[in-house]
Amino acid sequence: MRSSLPLEPLTSDEEEEPLRELITETSIHDQAEEKTNYKQETEITYTPYKNSFASRLYGIPRLATTLTAEEAWTSPFNSRKLKPYIRRDYETIQQKLRLLWDIIRYPHRNDPNWLPPPASPIDFCYFQKEHLDQVNDLLQKCFWPGIDVSENLLFPDFSIVAMYKRLVIGCGFMTPQAYITYIAVAPGWEKSGIGQFMVYHLIQTNIGKDVTLHVSANNPAMILYQKFGFKPEEFIVNFYDKYLPDGSLECKNAFFVRLRR
Ligand SMILES: CC(C)(COP(=O)(O)OP(=O)(O)OC[C@H]1O[C@@H](n2cnc3c(N)ncnc32)[C@H](O)[C@@H]1OP(=O)(O)O)[C@@H](O)C(=O)NCCC(=O)NCCS
Repeated sequence: MRSSLPLEPLTSDEEEEPLRELITETSIHDQAEEKTNYKQETEITYTPYKNSFASRLYGIPRLATTLTAEEAWTSPFNSRKLKPYIRRDYETIQQKLRLLWDIIRYPHRNDPNWLPPPASPIDFCYFQKEHLDQVNDLLQKCFWPGIDVSENLLFPDFSIVAMYKRLVIGCGFMTPQAYITYIAVAPGWEKSGIGQFMVYHLIQTNIGKDVTLHVSANNPAMILYQKFGFKPEEFIVNFYDKYLPDGSLECKNAFFVRLRR
């Protein structure tokens, strides 16, 4: 039904004016902001891959084949610069690697043009937090449960970790007082010189101090230490009694050996 009252204008001309102004001001402001954003966007010409979203999805390609820092880093122990790699061994073809190569080569055996992918070295580097879980796991398998070497992150100068790509295949630790606490090579990677290089490195890190350690009385590692000139000083009965779990076949008696300088 139509109203009988006359229709009145909703707003007068004077009231509309400030609104128009506001709209114009806002749109000018928006346009200016858009222009600045556009300018900023066009100024970003290149995003380094490591900062990009793609890197979060696919990872850093370098880290797909290694597990060590990209550049030299500072030791928390004495602020010395530690290199990303102590040594990269491209020469030793370890028994496990030979098997791996045979597996890779097998499907291409009839293709004379097939080229194998580039070989990865065995890398030796200083202990970093990225290695911690794998290192603890390896030491617990080789020695006894509950080993945690996170304290050694405070003095990485006296450590060494052997890796094949991202896999920890060996590790060795020493205290700043030159006492070797642990040295181990993962099962299947032994007898190719990894243990020998790790002992050599640890000895070199503390020149001038006698290097000491305890070794179980029936451990063949004694042969390795004797090669470097370690001499037994003491025979300790039941030294490993509080460490080795019940039923362990390891000998609980130990030699205390010393490398004199
Ligand atoms: C001991 C250990 C670290 C040696 O590592 P590795 O990489 O196999 O040692 P290497 O290949 O460098 O061997 C160097 C030398 O040590 C001696 N050696 C090492 N393991 C030996 C073994 N099982 N039997 C006899 N000699 C052995 C050899 O003389 C060898 O030299 P050679 O190959 O020229 O004969 C490794 O066997 C290991 O992790 N064992 C279990 C953990 C352990 O007992 N650690 C020592 C605690 S004190």
